[in-house]
Amino acid sequence: MYCHTATSIRLAPSNPLGSIMEDPNEILRSEHEALQALLSVLDDMAKRLAANQLVPREDLNDAMMVVVEYADRCHCTKEELVLFPILATASPKAGAEITRRMAEEHRGLRRLVRGIQEILPRGSMTRSARVDLGRILGAYVQLLRDHIRIEEELLFPEVDRSIPRPDRARILREFERVEREEVGWGMHAAYHSIIHRLREAYGT
Ligand SMILES: [Fe+2]
Ligand SMILES: [Fe+2]
Repeated sequence: MYCHTATSIRLAPSNPLGSIMEDPNEILRSEHEALQALLSVLDDMAKRLAANQLVPREDLNDAMMVVVEYADRCHCTKEELVLFPILATASPKAGAEITRRMAEEHRGLRRLVRGIQEILPRGSMTRSARVDLGRILGAYVQLLRDHIRIEEELLFPEVDRSIPRPDRARILREFERVEREEVGWGMHAAYHSIIHRLREAYGT
């Protein structure tokens, strides 16, 4: 069972090996869809903050929890620990170059998250803290949007070209292991429901 709703629904409990019928790109693309919904929320929050409008602290905290736990710990970790090394070995030139670039962008995203977290724990936010937060949040949105676009345009086709089918089945098993060890069973549903709740108030 993965972090994304579509596959979670398709995987029947009576078929624990159902995941071997899936494709790693399909899993990651579906998670990107959830991340795009999260990005709509964050983009709206960033614009409101940059305009010095109030965004409730609990909404910011919830959104950042999904950023840390879902976008980074669930999604980026699967790419970094599982997909990138296998692709870099299968495609030592083009694949290795793309994975290097994508891993560097993951580090850039984490730096921005740390910047956001440094501002968030402060008590009542001053105008300048709000504007700073909006600016860093906006940079995160832009970087993750571009990152997702590049993965879909360059990374996924290279996976299709370079990784043989048996290795893709191995990737899926490793995705499951990461999900179990890094995220915890059932947590993906909680993150999806937070995104859904926030989506009703932001980025509509
Ligand atoms: Fe990525
Ligand atoms: Fe991704």
